[in-house]
Amino acid sequence: MRQNIIAGNWKMNGNISETKSLLEELLAGKWDHQRCQAVVCPPYTALSTAGKLLHESHIALGAQDMSEHASGAYTGEISTDMLLTVGATYVILGHSERRQYHSETDKLVNTKAKVAFQAGLTPIICVGETLTQREAGQVHEVVEAQINGTLSEFSADLMMKSVIAYEPIWAIGTGKTATPDIAEDVHRFIRQKIAELDADAAETIPILYGGSVKPSNAAELLGQPDIDGALVGGASLKADDFLAIINAV
Ligand code: 13P
Repeated sequence: MRQNIIAGNWKMNGNISETKSLLEELLAGKWDHQRCQAVVCPPYTALSTAGKLLHESHIALGAQDMSEHASGAYTGEISTDMLLTVGATYVILGHSERRQYHSETDKLVNTKAKVAFQAGLTPIICVGETLTQREAGQVHEVVEAQINGTLSEFSADLMMKSVIAYEPIWAIGTGKTATPDIAEDVHRFIRQKIAELDADAAETIPILYGGSVKPSNAAELLGQPDIDGALVGGASLKADDFLAIINAV
């Protein structure tokens, strides 16, 4: 039985007061906690506030990135220890916006995932192709390289503990969602590739879909056999929409 996860990636949205009101609305929401783990990933400056509000709740806290270093002269960076002290238990790694605007590579994501796991954080590792790559028929090739690169030399434990997010770049923030068939095809492919690395992990790893997930398309996407949840951007900023997606699991 795989864990269903609906994670909200707030990106660069949410000051302290907006964070408080959104989380208060989410905390008042109802869903079957056994069926779905909800996670929110606010920006760094709101993590501490969020951590206090979510303490002992059914919503887990995640960060949107982290440094691979433990401490020291890394201006602008945030360590795993800092994330743990505010109550984070998840961290998104290798989001396409980090890859695009901050030149993050599979190798760096791989290193960060190992550091996150050592610290006790669950990495949500993002992969996905561009529109040009899809149109050139390279989806499987691109995703396979990202899976092999980001999961390289993972221990059996880390493999079991990881979460993958398939986020086709052309579907992020564009309103163009992958059809359930297109998404399922890549999710199934990812699970097969993971099975080549570790058959047991392939059965248990949650693979989330991300890219313009909203209440109107969530149920159909989440109904696919290899889609175990969603990584939600824009719709995670509206409590009603995020709760509707959680309840679509
Ligand atoms: P949208 O849901 O806004 O398309 O963003 C998806 C995403 O990038 C989540 O990480």
